[in-house]
Amino acid sequence: QHEGTPEPRAPVVTVMGHVDHGKTSLLDYIRKSHVASGEAGGITQHIGAYHVETGHGMISFLDTPGHAAFTAMRARGAKSTDIVILVVAADDGVMPQTEEAVQHAKAAGVPLIVAVNKIDKEGADPDRVKNELSAKEVIPEEWGGDTQFINVSAHTGEGIEALLDAVLLQAELLELTAPRDVPAQGIVIESRLDKGRGSVASLLVQSGTLRQGDIVLAGLQYGRVRAMLDENGQPVDEAGPSIPVEILGLDGTPDAGEQFAVVESERRARELADFRQEKQRDNKLQRQQA
Ligand code: GTP
Ligand code: NA
Ligand code: MG
Repeated sequence: QHEGTPEPRAPVVTVMGHVDHGKTSLLDYIRKSHVASGEAGGITQHIGAYHVETGHGMISFLDTPGHAAFTAMRARGAKSTDIVILVVAADDGVMPQTEEAVQHAKAAGVPLIVAVNKIDKEGADPDRVKNELSAKEVIPEEWGGDTQFINVSAHTGEGIEALLDAVLLQAELLELTAPRDVPAQGIVIESRLDKGRGSVASLLVQSGTLRQGDIVLAGLQYGRVRAMLDENGQPVDEAGPSIPVEILGLDGTPDAGEQFAVVESERRARELADFRQEKQRDNKLQRQQA
């Protein structure tokens, strides 16, 4: 209904790769080395996503547990990610989940950047990784392909700045934009029921601006945003495109990958939620009859 004016937005990145190749270590390193000074030492909330300021621009990372969440989101038709960082351990090479990640990214039409990790280890063989991935048609730029390969170590931090630069370079090519001056839309990253606070949902705003007091409809759940927190647990008044936030106030826990949108009133939210629920019932009936 409201189109808004497209403005540049930060890339949203998912890290994928084989078990133990260093996805979590890489995300942890980036988070620790780029946390704003006022927040350093503070407790980082786990909201399944965070964003960093790199000096050359902002990047948002989804750290949902990889493939499962990515697949669930795709199954729902939600495009959650602009760029995939594929982590491959330089001492282990391409493994089954590496290949799976390549397939996921290709199927979703999302560009890959390869982080050849554990470059600090004895036995690290980045050329082997290049060879093995080239056989899967992920070809390094220096070999005439279109994929950036960056050697990194999540332990020493070597190559991490180059990796972030590679992400921003790729993002520039994608010319990512979204309007800010419209009601917010986006996807649910995760949600849970908290003893004290009730429903707590992590959302990624994809377009528009989300504000405290907005009425949000997410899947079959809705409610007024009672409080909004960033990934450091700090209250925020609003969140624009590509920014992850945690919200309180929904009447339930929507699934990861559900889409959310701000609607004009609770009454409208209830109508839409009821309508969706009926539709789901109908679909189920039809499937049973078929
Ligand atoms: P899963 O989530 O279980 O799939 O693993 P992961 O991909 O998140 O790997 P994780 O970050 O847990 O790292 C696995 C192991 O490799 C840990 O013991 C890390 O300390 C180690 N590791 C990760 N990155 C590096 C690196 O750059 N160099 C070295 N030497 N070890 C690393
Ligand atoms: Na691990
Ligand atoms: Mg991990």
